[in-house]
Amino acid sequence: MPALIRVANVYDVPPGSSTLVEADGQFLALFNVGGTFYAIDDACPHQGASLSEGEIRGCVVICPWHGWEFDVTNGKLLTQPGILNAVTYPVVVEGDAVLVEV
Ligand code: FES
Repeated sequence: MPALIRVANVYDVPPGSSTLVEADGQFLALFNVGGTFYAIDDACPHQGASLSEGEIRGCVVICPWHGWEFDVTNGKLLTQPGILNAVTYPVVVEGDAVLVEV
């Protein structure tokens, strides 16, 4: 049964930034794209780099290790489409709280 877990305060993650959060034992990369929040598995599906440390360009995060690019809104790998996508998690904002469904 999925649970909504508070992972951050909206003010902790300004637009255009990301942060590493933990929800129920899972490490997630939380992104703020123009005021909308998205969460994906922090571990890059290629070799496990931390995607929360990747460079962000709009809704795209660039993996810090080998440069694969993921659309954070849907987890899709853009660099080599279709081979490995990032797992995404629904995000809900309630007041100042950012919650992730895991
Ligand atoms: S670990 Fe992310 S592209 Fe290789």
